[in-house]
Amino acid sequence: MAEDKKYNIIEFEELESTNARAKELAGQGAAAWTVVTAIRQTGGYGRKGNIWVSPAGGLYFSAVLPKSNVADLQILTILAAFCAAKTIKENCGIEPFVKLPNDVYINGKKVCGALTENVILGDEILSVIGIGVNTNVETFAGESAGATSLKIESGQTIDNRALLEQIIEQLKNVFKEISN
Ligand code: BTN
Repeated sequence: MAEDKKYNIIEFEELESTNARAKELAGQGAAAWTVVTAIRQTGGYGRKGNIWVSPAGGLYFSAVLPKSNVADLQILTILAAFCAAKTIKENCGIEPFVKLPNDVYINGKKVCGALTENVILGDEILSVIGIGVNTNVETFAGESAGATSLKIESGQTIDNRALLEQIIEQLKNVFKEISN
């Protein structure tokens, strides 16, 4: 029997931003755990309007979240950062550091960021979480100068699809504990 993963990953070659696309889909009634991923983003963004430089090689995705007992976007973001850090540690054998509220660092350099946003649908509020991980990116300049990647730090090429599925599983486990 096929395994019921209870998430739906939609893959794009290129998007302006997976968060923007996931918010559109949420607004159109997409189910919880609809996950949008893109090989590259042309307008990826982070907190405070920062640019998230998103060349091919990195992992960029956003998930429509289920309703939970937690309405605070900052708390959802912190949970996501810890889920990403745990998955990175388990996969790469590297000890990451979560810099609250939304960043994951390795050896003092940023490797991952999370961003939660709301979509307001009448009197309903849905949240979307976006995570960017510098997995196989090898050079950093401009807006991303000073960042690092899992490949640089571990010497291994990262399987983006496997890492994505593992982070989603971590998020789903956390959400089981905080869902209505
Ligand atoms: C931050 O560092 O402030 C958070 C960065 C979040 C970037 C991710 S990449 C996938 C998703 N799409 C976006 O446009 N942003 C998030």
